[in-house]
Amino acid sequence: MNNYFSIEDIDSLDTWINQAIEIKKNPLSDKTLGTDKTIGLLFFNPSLRTRLSTQKAALNLGLNVIVMNFTGEGWSLEYGDGKVMDQGNSEHVKEAAQVISQYCDILAIRAFATLKNREEDYEEKVVKNFMKYASIPVINMESATGHPLQALTDAITIAEHKPIHKPKIVLSWAPHPKALPQAVANSFVEMMQRMEADFVITHPVGFELASQITNEVPIDYNQEKAFKDADFVYVKNWSSYTDYGKSSQDQSWMITEEKMKLTNNAKFMHCLPVRRNVVVDDAVIDSNNSIVIEQANNRTYAAQLVLKKILENK
Ligand code: CP
Repeated sequence: MNNYFSIEDIDSLDTWINQAIEIKKNPLSDKTLGTDKTIGLLFFNPSLRTRLSTQKAALNLGLNVIVMNFTGEGWSLEYGDGKVMDQGNSEHVKEAAQVISQYCDILAIRAFATLKNREEDYEEKVVKNFMKYASIPVINMESATGHPLQALTDAITIAEHKPIHKPKIVLSWAPHPKALPQAVANSFVEMMQRMEADFVITHPVGFELASQITNEVPIDYNQEKAFKDADFVYVKNWSSYTDYGKSSQDQSWMITEEKMKLTNNAKFMHCLPVRRNVVVDDAVIDSNNSIVIEQANNRTYAAQLVLKKILENK
């Protein structure tokens, strides 16, 4: 494997899940694989889990780590071909990507959607231009439209908690005071289409995800009906794809104990960070069925598996 841009870069999901679970048992088993090599982590947006788990994974493999917060600290980048750069942007991605490729052996990038222009966001300008001009492997640490490290983590976590029967998994929209990208939901939906599961999405009318991502996945606009007999409830806010970037704080969609009682004793999942008592009641996230902390722990092993595959391919 060269780049890890989307979950399409996973050749065999079952194999990857099993390999990640093996890494989790012995995280230092490949502690010299990355010796004398360097990973650069570029952040155009904030992060806790992605930043620390990817660093931890890199350190477990013996890699050196360089972290750069681009926004406010790096030169503002131009991405357009043939642009007369007489406005605010100081450096073109062509040079930036080539220069970083000399300092690092692997590059990982976080660059969220702007939520201003759907076509531009779904073109994946930032990560795709770095992939185009860098001469080293590039990892997506959440781009405008996808969060494949999170989705791999989620698949590992679900596999660890899988019931004997085929699980029912619900992706539920929940309210949020800010407009958030569709990236986590998109990658989760793509991942669920690759797993053995009865998968359903529930959200208010107007919050449909891109049809090229949801394909034939059933959508139920009745959240309580969707929750019935669920084994996993995966909760995430996203802003509207159709009325691009519009948010909603409809509190009737918050995850409560009463709604969780409709499920088959479902595990509660969320990628974090989460707004308590807006997205989910304290009683749910603090319950024994909440696996959000375990889920966050698995971020390290998902990232480590991706880094290991890239290093073994170099
Ligand atoms: N889930 C996730 O990506 O968390 P961070 O934004 O804190 O990295």
